Amino acid sequence: MTSVPVPPPPPDPSPRRAGGGGMAAPSKGFGATDPRIAPYVEGVLKPEDEVLREIRSRSIREGLPPIAVGPFDGRHLEVLARMAGARRIVEIGTLGGYSGVCLARALPPGGRLDTFELEPRHAVVAAESFRRAGVSDRVRIHVGPAFDRLREIEREGPFDLAFIDADKGGYPDYLAWCARHLRVGGTVIADNVFRRAAIPLPGDDPNAMIGIRCFNETLAQSGAFRATMLPLEDGFAVGVKL
Ligand code: SAH
Ligand code: DHB
Ligand code: MG
Repeated sequence: MTSVPVPPPPPDPSPRRAGGGGMAAPSKGFGATDPRIAPYVEGVLKPEDEVLREIRSRSIREGLPPIAVGPFDGRHLEVLARMAGARRIVEIGTLGGYSGVCLARALPPGGRLDTFELEPRHAVVAAESFRRAGVSDRVRIHVGPAFDRLREIEREGPFDLAFIDADKGGYPDYLAWCARHLRVGGTVIADNVFRRAAIPLPGDDPNAMIGIRCFNETLAQSGAFRATMLPLEDGFAVGVKL
């Protein structure tokens, strides 16, 4: 394996001065860092209903890794997909179906979610999640390596929205697929675009760091998308295809 120079983590800035970039005025920060805020919003929004709670706990019970999006990001996905008016959604990385249920809930009648999962045993758990959430009629699960399986749906495009949340080394390829197969005005969302890219730790997979950095830079700079990064759990990148 090639050895990749990993820069040291940036100094841990005090929240009120984070990201000052040399400006005199203190930054307003990036994300809600005060630990009292999340419980407040949780109480107002109650983002995880009984169906989602059951999916999270059954996924863990079935031995899936506890890496589904959190309750807030689940709601963010549903609302972003509704804002985008998405009728045709692609998800890369199904796991137990938590984020997929959130996306499927945003679909209008006749809409469809195509979700891609490498591991057959994850797909089995997800199929049960879609059934329990009452969205099975709108969801197709494709089992196998996503980059190969995406070919199965290409001629049904273009698509309105894609959510990328699978192998981090594959993010650049998935972004290239989105640039080809999303409609103009379509939305790409990617999870986990911060931590591994900005503060890689010893033991992290260097391919994940390289993949996410390449994804972030291409999304921001290629001219194919207008992009932003939302400081949510581990960072959502959001881009609109130009
Ligand atoms: N989006 C899910 C979490 C996905 S976790 C949620 O929030 O509920 C990442 C998933 O990607 C895992 O289930 C893993 O098996 C899957 N994965 C990893 N490599 C993959 C590949 N090459 N193709 C498709 N899925 C892959
Ligand atoms: C992890 C978290 C994720 O959201 C993901 O998609 C993959 C891995 C993790 O915490 O290891
Ligand atoms: Mg993720």
